[in-house]
Amino acid sequence: MIPAAHPLIGDEERAAVDRVMRSGMLAMGPEVAAFEAEFSALVEGRHCIAVNSGTSALHLSLIAAGIGPGDEVIVPSFSFAATANAVGLVGATPVFVDIEPDYFAIDPAAVEAAITPRTRAIMPVHLYGHPADLVALSAIAEARGLLLIEDAAQAHAAAVNGIPVGAWGAAASFSFYPTKNMTSGEGGLVSTADEGIARTMRLLRNQGMERRYENEIIGFNARMTDIHAAIGRVQLTKLAGWTAQRQANATFLSENLSGVVTPPTAPGAVHVFHQYTVRIDGAERDRFAEELHARGVGSGVYYPTPIHRLPSFALELDLPQTERAAREVLSLPVYPGLTPDDLATIVEAVNAVASAGR
Ligand SMILES: Cc1ncc(COP(=O)(O)O)c(C=O)c1O
Repeated sequence: MIPAAHPLIGDEERAAVDRVMRSGMLAMGPEVAAFEAEFSALVEGRHCIAVNSGTSALHLSLIAAGIGPGDEVIVPSFSFAATANAVGLVGATPVFVDIEPDYFAIDPAAVEAAITPRTRAIMPVHLYGHPADLVALSAIAEARGLLLIEDAAQAHAAAVNGIPVGAWGAAASFSFYPTKNMTSGEGGLVSTADEGIARTMRLLRNQGMERRYENEIIGFNARMTDIHAAIGRVQLTKLAGWTAQRQANATFLSENLSGVVTPPTAPGAVHVFHQYTVRIDGAERDRFAEELHARGVGSGVYYPTPIHRLPSFALELDLPQTERAAREVLSLPVYPGLTPDDLATIVEAVNAVASAGR
């Protein structure tokens, strides 16, 4: 069976964990500081603040940006629930808008139409590793005096016009969950060019303290441990090679698959293929996934229910592209550990199931 996703953990990661365990310093310390400094090279030298999850990164960065009750934040409904949860957790209102159909990202025209006097921020998600239209969204944010807060959980090293994700917005959040393009076990990180947001993030993750027992604000324990940071540091050294392998796998799939709609890349964009997501006729999608499974190929549906319709939000909205994507998307294995035989098996299985369905 070729699984839908598979984290790559090697001897170097195990040795790094062992080094930290032997040091006796397990909580946030020098490994976290080194991880932040090293990750900063991916986001044009911005401040980096590591935390215990991508969700904490989003949540704390919204607090640090001063967003709270009475504020509206424009988000896509076609994402993982954590995007909108972060907005809800600070007491603000997520305003769900539709996606554009090609890259599954928030539609700038829909963002523009959703702005009200209460809007404080736009939160694009670089879904599947393809960057949202950061040129258009930055222009809207600037013209309307809004913050751009990137959800880059799935898009380490993606870029638009040579500028990496995480270096566009007032703040950006990354996730290091095991299935992401790089992992720390669990973990997250905020990048920001804003000194104030960076300092508040450092306080918020550590009970409001910079100096021990001198708590300046009310905060959380959202610290990353040195064990997780040590894993993340090793993975960071492998990210560029893995990303190139994901892109090569995606190119192979797109050149050889037939009978499904393959994922395009926008002009000027670097797609890092966290997922390789095809579209299949909505009535056929679930049967298609079952038949792939029967042929030894795992797949995933990210995400079957738009966030606004989940019981946690339960809103009735008209978001046709979001609904269509939720019915049609299917993500095929694309991770760097796939062998040429695996890739051939995936192509054979998809093409066979697609042609049988006609
Ligand atoms: C788009 C998106 N946002 C936020 C998150 C939250 O990250 P984490 O699972 O590290 O809390 C994830 C990943 O799970 C995600 O895919």
